Amino acid sequence: MSVIEAIKKRNSSAFMAEDDVDNDLIRQILDAAVCTPVHYKTNPWRFLVIRGEGRHKLGNFMADRLAKEMDDPSSDKNIRFLDKIRKKALRAPIIIVAAAAKSDCKDAMMVEDIASVSAACQNILLSADELGLSAIWRTGSLAYDPRTVSFLGFDRGTEIVGFIYLGHPLKEIGSKPRETSGKYTRFLE
Ligand SMILES: Cc1cc2nc3c(=O)[nH]c(=O)nc-3n(C[C@H](O)[C@H](O)[C@H](O)COP(=O)(O)O)c2cc1C
Repeated sequence: MSVIEAIKKRNSSAFMAEDDVDNDLIRQILDAAVCTPVHYKTNPWRFLVIRGEGRHKLGNFMADRLAKEMDDPSSDKNIRFLDKIRKKALRAPIIIVAAAAKSDCKDAMMVEDIASVSAACQNILLSADELGLSAIWRTGSLAYDPRTVSFLGFDRGTEIVGFIYLGHPLKEIGSKPRETSGKYTRFLE
């Protein structure tokens, strides 16, 4: 299959089996992930692979973070809501957190390093697809909260770019119509 065909056929999917994913597959995916363009050789890609009990730790953090903003986290309604949040981290056997480290290089720009890690995220999605795995890139306010960066053990100044949920597919996702570029493109000639 050509690269272009692979890009066009990839689809995100949130339907994943509970079964764990082999470390060898994760390594193949992350080795492909870091093959991105990068400016000033900052090598900004940082990954945290969360699985097993780690997912419960993340789920508890997600719920505790929201509970802190509630007037009454112990109300029945809020308990039910927080329980739902806690379970969100269990939606896949593997969550890869992809983040951009802040570089010491004086010329480096965070926007460029985030761009490079965004390309790494697409590499993860494409590699997962080739290896027969389902994946979906998620963020939300959790990703942009400095407390999350610290809880997950990234260095200060690191920016989380995505939580990529990964697992063996529960069902086949058919192809869907994709945009074409015409209406988003202009030429200066
Ligand atoms: C930076 C970024 C953050 C995203 N965050 C979420 C999210 O939190 N929840 C979600 O359901 N989809 C999120 N999406 C969208 C999905 O990853 C996915 O792209 C979308 O469902 C379209 O599916 P497709 O990738 O098959 O086109 C996000 C996408 C990007 C690029």
